[in-house]
Amino acid sequence: MIRRAKLRDARIELEFVRATEAAAIASARMVGLGDKNGVDQAAVDAMRQVLGDVDVAGTVVIGEGEKDEAPMLYIGEKLGTGDGPEVDIAVDPIDGTTLASRGGPGAISVVAAARRGTLFQTRVPYMDKIVVGPAGTGRISIDRPLRENIRALAAEMHRPVSEITVALLDRPRNEHLVREVRDMGARIRLFRDGDVATAIIAVLTERTRIDMLAGIGGAPEGVVTACAVKALGGDMQGRLWLRDAADAEIVAAEGIDPAKTLTLDDLCAADEAILAATGVTDGELLAGVSFGDGSAFTQSIVISTYTRTVRTSDCKHMLTPHLSTLPSLDGTTAEIQA
Ligand code: FBP
Repeated sequence: MIRRAKLRDARIELEFVRATEAAAIASARMVGLGDKNGVDQAAVDAMRQVLGDVDVAGTVVIGEGEKDEAPMLYIGEKLGTGDGPEVDIAVDPIDGTTLASRGGPGAISVVAAARRGTLFQTRVPYMDKIVVGPAGTGRISIDRPLRENIRALAAEMHRPVSEITVALLDRPRNEHLVREVRDMGARIRLFRDGDVATAIIAVLTERTRIDMLAGIGGAPEGVVTACAVKALGGDMQGRLWLRDAADAEIVAAEGIDPAKTLTLDDLCAADEAILAATGVTDGELLAGVSFGDGSAFTQSIVISTYTRTVRTSDCKHMLTPHLSTLPSLDGTTAEIQA
């Protein structure tokens, strides 16, 4: 009798990390070439191929866009063998596409999953967010000024405000937050791109370099981040950020109140979640892909409430002699580069 895989199975964690590894390796060959679309496409193709074989009945809820704009990993696409748990899947084949295309630091490949019907869905592109680790759980509110949240976190951590570091995405729309944090004397980490990796650092208790992430970034990245926060036990709130009338029309059609405070449970209603990520370029969370000796070397993290583990792994992938293929578990060979 064939045993159906459960999300609790470490096998599924391994398959998810193989998907992010494959995406990272495929896109790593294009790092620095200035081709944003090429980097993304290489990652999408490789990730799609591996996710197709995972023992889940998955539905993409955060992906590359609607079906007519994305041939693969589009919202609503069914993924997996169908023989396994029903899950929502959130993919970001590259978070930091521009970084990777320029050869900048901190691009990752990431996939997350939680029970079917539990991940927040919207086509609005941007979300205001605040993310903290376990020390700040229950102590943050996106409805309050940022300085009050920083003070509350500092008090909870028994640290002066001057020892709290807040990460902010470096965009004009977040400048008022930069001023607010500077005025109160807390430390700032301005980062250029990649708010999933930065948020994970803020939530991991074994890393203490960033204590909070705040400001307006991508909405899909917000949902992916929520899976990590659920899995790691921190806290997060968000609110959709509308740029214009077109965004307002989208939320109206979706029936979402744009003023609503989105709690962690609104963003990821499941109690349990999995997130796997692999470094594409060297960053603070993960080392990027390197090549040598006919092999590719990757570093990944898998966070899972099912197995109650945060697993980091270094992997040597022994590529076939022409350096273009990655053997798969069933003995077939997966093309990871055109
Ligand atoms: P991409 O990989 O899609 O370029 O996203 C990178 C990123 O920095 C995200 O981490 C962040 O949430 C988003 O862009 C912010 O969007 P924008 O660059 O439009 O301000």
